[in-house]
Amino acid sequence: MALAAAAERVAAEFEYPKEDVNRGVKEFIRQMNEGLAKQGTTMSQIPTYVTAVPNGTENGLYMAVDLGGTNFRVCSIQLHGNSTFSLTQSKVAIPKQLMVAKTSRELFSFLAKQIELFLKTHHEDHYVSHVERRASSAGGFREEDIFSLGFTFSFPVQQYGINKGTLIRWTKGFDIQDTVGKDVCALLQKEIDALHLPVRVAALVNDTVGTLMARSYTSPGKAGTLLGAIFGTGTNGAYVEKLEKMSKLKGMAGEVDGSTGEMIVNTEWGSFDNQLSVLPNTPYDNDLDKESVNPGIQMFEKRISGMFLGEILRRALVSLVKDPSVPLFSDEHSNQNDVHSTTNIQQDSPLFKQWGIDTSFLSISSGDNSAGLKVTRQTLDNEYGISAASAEDAEAVRLIASAVGKRAARLSAVAIAAVVIATGKLGDNTATEVTDENVVDIGVDGSLVEFYPNFEEYIREALRDVPEIGPLGEKRIRIGIAKDGSGVGAALIALVADKAMKAGPRSDVNAGGFAGFINGIIDHLNRGVRMRV
Ligand code: BGC
Repeated sequence: MALAAAAERVAAEFEYPKEDVNRGVKEFIRQMNEGLAKQGTTMSQIPTYVTAVPNGTENGLYMAVDLGGTNFRVCSIQLHGNSTFSLTQSKVAIPKQLMVAKTSRELFSFLAKQIELFLKTHHEDHYVSHVERRASSAGGFREEDIFSLGFTFSFPVQQYGINKGTLIRWTKGFDIQDTVGKDVCALLQKEIDALHLPVRVAALVNDTVGTLMARSYTSPGKAGTLLGAIFGTGTNGAYVEKLEKMSKLKGMAGEVDGSTGEMIVNTEWGSFDNQLSVLPNTPYDNDLDKESVNPGIQMFEKRISGMFLGEILRRALVSLVKDPSVPLFSDEHSNQNDVHSTTNIQQDSPLFKQWGIDTSFLSISSGDNSAGLKVTRQTLDNEYGISAASAEDAEAVRLIASAVGKRAARLSAVAIAAVVIATGKLGDNTATEVTDENVVDIGVDGSLVEFYPNFEEYIREALRDVPEIGPLGEKRIRIGIAKDGSGVGAALIALVADKAMKAGPRSDVNAGGFAGFINGIIDHLNRGVRMRV
């Protein structure tokens, strides 16, 4: 078979037409509602119990850490009292072996060590004086010397309070069985205490919640942000839901402040439709799942996020390389019946290794405008041990990479459309003008939205395919990047939690309820915007 025709055949397997998008949206809304009504559903719809309000005059130093995928980030935010703050941060790659360690301790002690290193590097005075005081005859430490830390932990957690929550399951390649069912804040606190660090884990936050907060701050207009979504290593969204729709709350622990009638819900949409009732399923998706650490779980995420798209592409390419009738990466000396004899591909090429192709390659290939697709061919040569790839080879790769990326974006649109429709935020979708009042604001973050060419445009195309949104509604949906919002969001929630704890349960820090809390944070940020990074 000619190479171009074969590549087109594979690319066509990733088509996700209008009818499927609409079927997806309907089922997504059904699973959202199911998750609001009962526990143990595939889409978890986790209540976040965020209710306290900052009063805007805060002073002091707060910390945030972010564990969510490839990197671990530590940051501190100094609130200057005159309503400005400065932010300092550091980032370290998480060693692969720790993602699948035998015990929680191995991972969490590594995290605590990074916090120690950060303190020593950036807050030496504070750290040394703390250590000296502990060693002195007076001993102990004063409450005000302890850093409150917001812990952005971007995995599904059943939250029981602002700094308590048990891990439901790992995602994104992490697999430490010992952690499942344990309180992740307590695990981190234990390792922090073992190092005698002056740090209290004050708040537990999902990255989507932090993104929602950060976007609320930057987004212009009065409408408020509806959704914070991540399309990065993993995918997920947190949105503002009406309490009256969250019927399962009645049967749950956790105290709810009902004064605003709203709460942020962490959907954990990565596990939308694990049962595959509406999701597209190619042989490549199927095999990827079977050979993953969590088969049958995070099925939506496995079709959308950066952790998986490179692997889908790899499997699709290998299927062509193995097909004796398709001349991909081959030359006249190749023995088409033996993939490893294909002289253009090195024996140890990552093409033949699970997870061998990075999702960034999809972005490179899909966006390659160079003459003869030179950039793609060079990357194949330098990174993937595939030499002398022809322009036709690179074109085949580009076709399939684009199809995989486009399907991911159209699936992402299913989640966005469902949240917009289910919350009724769009109202009448015939308004022709976009105003500050009728705009529906969405904050996004993650490598795919940031780097995959046309990701947002593909999302928008699919949104227009949904009749409840249509071309007019699509224009009213504003999507804005909230870069690294999760860190800032977490530090501010730590601040709020800290205030609430010091003030005691009946203080007025709760008076404004959820909306007051958000406004307080936005206010605070607005006044503290002169930040130094
Ligand atoms: C996790 C979510 C997280 C998302 C984005 C998913 O794998 O389950 O908690 O928000 O990745 O980081």
